[in-house]
Amino acid sequence: MTVVITGASRGIGAGLAAYYRDQGVDVMGTGRSVTADITLDVTQPSSHTEMAEKLGEQAVELLVCNAGVYLDKGADLDSGYGADIWAQSFATNVTGVFLSIQALLPHLRRAANPRIAIISSQMASSELAPGGSYIYRASKAAVLNLGRNLSTDLKAQGIAVGIYHPGWVQTDMGGSSAAITVDEAVAGLTERFAALNIKTTGCFETWDGRAHPY
Ligand SMILES: NC(=O)c1ccc[n+]([C@@H]2O[C@H](COP(=O)([O-])OP(=O)(O)OC[C@H]3O[C@@H](n4cnc5c(N)ncnc54)[C@H](OP(=O)(O)O)[C@@H]3O)[C@@H](O)[C@H]2O)c1
Repeated sequence: MTVVITGASRGIGAGLAAYYRDQGVDVMGTGRSVTADITLDVTQPSSHTEMAEKLGEQAVELLVCNAGVYLDKGADLDSGYGADIWAQSFATNVTGVFLSIQALLPHLRRAANPRIAIISSQMASSELAPGGSYIYRASKAAVLNLGRNLSTDLKAQGIAVGIYHPGWVQTDMGGSSAAITVDEAVAGLTERFAALNIKTTGCFETWDGRAHPY
């Protein structure tokens, strides 16, 4: 089984890569640095093409779209949220996810039990809508929507798509006062990915297995 994880240089992505490696799984962790298994800047279309070429004829059983940015943390409604932050956030959190999936569709189609896991966030929820962080929330809502629509289109091809809130996790993004460790998030998420199948495709779940409000 081959697992591809985007944004595996640190945080949740690095934790997921370490977990699967310990399980003896063939892991391709992508990162922007040349020391990554596969170099990938998710905002660069040519970078996705190179990733697909590097994987050659390999089957990919699980693609985890994890790379993400949260650039408008604490921004001020009157003076913040510049157009450049909108563009950069959507290029990474939405377009980047779509391009990763599109590039690896041929590899997923070769697998026996192909699955795509999109790391969104509880901040994607339009039902909860507590306000603030408009760019990050909108980008995570968009990628949730993308995952739901892809799940419809890929169902007939036997490719399952799950969308996840990983918890509030102690990483550079989550901060040191976050609720759970990377290990706890990884333990929960990997259980969810293992349970993902064509009957549950389109699910939006928390790391600990609860259905998340849309
Ligand atoms: N931590 C939380 O509490 C939390 C909560 C909800 C959702 N999430 C989501 O979980 C995912 C992982 O978050 P994290 O907490 O592990 O964040 P993190 O510690 O900030 O790590 C982010 C990862 O994304 C990569 N990345 C960013 N921009 C990229 C790009 N253009 N191309 C390729 N890789 C890129 C980073 O690579 P570099 O090292 O090259 O920068 C890094 O590996 C994100 O999608 C995030 O939105 C996190």
